[in-house]
Amino acid sequence: MAVIPTLKLGGMEKAMPVIGMGTASFPMADLETTKAAVLEAIKAGYRHFDTAFAYGSEAALGQAVAEALRLGLIESRSDLFITTKLWASFTDPSQVVPACKMSLQNLKVEYVDMYLIHWPVRLTEMVRKTPVPIEIVKPLDIKGAWEGMEECVKLGLTKGIGVSNFSCKNLDHLLSTAKILPALNQVEMNPYWQQKKLREFCKEKGVHVTAYSPLGANNTKWGDDRILGNEVLADIAKAMGKTTAQVALRWVYEQGVSIASKSFNKERMLQNLQIFDWCLSDQHLEKISQLPQAKGVTLASILGPHPLVLEIDADL
Ligand code: A2P
Repeated sequence: MAVIPTLKLGGMEKAMPVIGMGTASFPMADLETTKAAVLEAIKAGYRHFDTAFAYGSEAALGQAVAEALRLGLIESRSDLFITTKLWASFTDPSQVVPACKMSLQNLKVEYVDMYLIHWPVRLTEMVRKTPVPIEIVKPLDIKGAWEGMEECVKLGLTKGIGVSNFSCKNLDHLLSTAKILPALNQVEMNPYWQQKKLREFCKEKGVHVTAYSPLGANNTKWGDDRILGNEVLADIAKAMGKTTAQVALRWVYEQGVSIASKSFNKERMLQNLQIFDWCLSDQHLEKISQLPQAKGVTLASILGPHPLVLEIDADL
């Protein structure tokens, strides 16, 4: 079984495995498919799982964890690092603790290891269809929502708290009011969206960065093949005797960033763990640093092109 390096996050006892398995699928996989994929991942050595209320995968992940315990694949719940996220419809300060409890109920666990604010936006209603009506899209009350997140820590519902899709400006605002500092910011990052400015800012402030869509989220509504179909990365892969996916994941890892990468395929999930015993050359790193940059995931593609949503997308 692959040995996965871990890292210590600010204010947290348990170390986080640097690669976690993402559980967002498109179209959304059924419960049994997701559950089987998670069980396969546990067998392959994954100990870090990334879910969200919005992915609809919390229940499947929870059932897989229960099954893994029953089968003796893990000894206890504490062998796993589980991250889930607060959906935008529950960011009113009064809703944060109940939303976290709802996620725990879905997951059938007593606590999560990491709870993240999913997007820097508030929706005044549940999303029934997309694009959402413009009148339900509101600015996020960062201070109030974060106080709710801090309450989740105090109640023992989560060990750590952080954010996702936060810009430098949002983080700055958060850091000026937070009593518990955000442990991490999970953002889109890959060779085509390298996030240099945000990463430098996070480093300066002591906020760890986790990359989602490290492979460009190929075959989803929000991704494409700009990573897996890229010739520069493919040439490097060929020269190294690796796959393009491994080159992209290794590049992310070499930037000091942890990874949430999705594969529900047994061979590919194993392949994605084989990135820790080799490294990219300076020449390869130089080539990757010259790739054209383009943000792939936008909030507008999820909620619709409303002015506030476009503002959030433009705030990098
Ligand atoms: P699959 O689940 O069939 O393996 P990201 O991690 O950027 O969100 O990308 C996820 C997408 O990349 C999924 O479509 C996943 O498909 C695919 N994928 C994951 N690992 C690999 C790999 N090693 N080679 C090719 N495609 C991969």
